[in-house]
Amino acid sequence: MIHPRLFLSRLHGLISLKLLAFVFAGLLCIPATAMEPKQIQAALDRAYEKYKGLKEGANADYIPVLAEVDSNIYGIALVTPDGKVYTAGDVKSEVSIQSISKVFTAAKVMEESGPDKIFNTIGADATGMRFNSIVSIEMSKQAFGGPEMNPLVNPGAIAATSMVKGNSRDDIFNSILSYYSDFAGRKLSVNEEVFKSESDTNQRNQAIGMLMYAYNYIEDNPMQATDIYTEQCSISVNAKDLATMAGTLANGGVNPVSKKTVLKPDNVPKLLAVMATAGLYDDSGKWLWRTGLPGKSGVGGGIIAVSPGNFGIAVISPPLDEAGNSVRAQKAIADISNALGGNPYAVMPMKQ
Ligand code: DON
Repeated sequence: MIHPRLFLSRLHGLISLKLLAFVFAGLLCIPATAMEPKQIQAALDRAYEKYKGLKEGANADYIPVLAEVDSNIYGIALVTPDGKVYTAGDVKSEVSIQSISKVFTAAKVMEESGPDKIFNTIGADATGMRFNSIVSIEMSKQAFGGPEMNPLVNPGAIAATSMVKGNSRDDIFNSILSYYSDFAGRKLSVNEEVFKSESDTNQRNQAIGMLMYAYNYIEDNPMQATDIYTEQCSISVNAKDLATMAGTLANGGVNPVSKKTVLKPDNVPKLLAVMATAGLYDDSGKWLWRTGLPGKSGVGGGIIAVSPGNFGIAVISPPLDEAGNSVRAQKAIADISNALGGNPYAVMPMKQ
């Protein structure tokens, strides 16, 4: 039988280890689900306060109506695989999902036609260029002679949208909208003002769609694909929606709040792979260096990031940096993830 004093000292050891783990979670790589809710909430609150006053960056204005969005909107949400939702700041205000939509349309194509459809037709490589680069299409076709793009830049995303199945334009769009809604766990809708504003100024994406068609990346009807792509970018979301969408990816394709299976577990790592290589465009390497997290940004001001098996996180704050990524969102997510041990590459050596 164990001596009571030994028992007490072991218990004491265990308790202090747990305390230590909370304090140094970032260093010890304790998964967020194993952390005290209070610790997770404190990490969100700290990042919210730290960056509340930050005034760097500017709203996107190449889509005219985005320039008018309130630059002060700032909301943080985090969802763990056990369905707990943590928030800080404004998680009610909605912005257009913009490029974050590309992840979920690629997911839909993978579900409908298998992941090879994306891999063999569009590719899974970073272009290293801006999200709406036309040169990247030329490079992919002329220099590399193959699908050397990815579904998270405009050319690849418009091609992915062209692959979604449906009997009519509206049928295809509604099926995309309903799929995104399953990820978010509530019925999402389109911001018609954003859709109109981008449709009226969408000549560059139309050119991209047409060039992708000319090079056989798009099989048919490139203008319809560009139009549906533009509408999917105009879907309205708040930080909680985006975090639930990211949380579904962190949880192997099952929405952790609604418990609905949205994506096959096998497709999740492939999607996370393109998010890691291309989610923040030509700044994806810098982002991965700082966080180790697959992420995706949108010019509406949102960023999502996924710590697999651990948490999905989203921050909305419209002012962007030069690459088109929200300034506050990048900083807040990096801080929170590092505080929660979110970097999947950060491991401690095994005790020999
Ligand atoms: O196609 C566009 O230009 C926009 N609808 C989306 C671009 C975007 O969000 C890039 N994000 N960082």
